[in-house]
Amino acid sequence: MAEPALIQVLSDEELREIEEECSHLPDRKSAAIDAMMIVQRHRGWVSDESLAAIARLLGMSLESLDSIATFYNLIYRKPVGRHVVMVCDSVSCYVMGADGLRKKVEEHLGIELGETTPDDRFTLLPIVCLGACDRAPTMMIGDELIGDVRSDQLAEIFGRFE
Ligand code: FES
Repeated sequence: MAEPALIQVLSDEELREIEEECSHLPDRKSAAIDAMMIVQRHRGWVSDESLAAIARLLGMSLESLDSIATFYNLIYRKPVGRHVVMVCDSVSCYVMGADGLRKKVEEHLGIELGETTPDDRFTLLPIVCLGACDRAPTMMIGDELIGDVRSDQLAEIFGRFE
């Protein structure tokens, strides 16, 4: 596909926001994560087509950008539900029962890690330390960090998210 067509995958607004990020940085490749987050904010996730367009726009290889996307687990490469649920599985949370908590969350939502509920309400993903180890075990739902989670609170916690 020709370069202009690839870039046309992105909306004018997305292009404007990405260019704005690039203008603050010493080189365009440094905007890789921000550019993917911009597209994700507009579309909910980053498709193969969008990824290729961002790579071309920033002058980097698709493989390099894809490996950054894979490493950075807040970039969603598949469609996700309205709320992304992430249960921390790093050491402090593990010690405080994160494994059991994740199983209870899976049971409550009726899905396993990496899956989305049939009503598109929740997607469950793993996450490394959320930086709130003193409140372990922790999880995130959307932008909300929830600490000291007990499995008997799950119905009330998930009930807050439509
Ligand atoms: S280990 Fe879970 S918040 Fe740090």
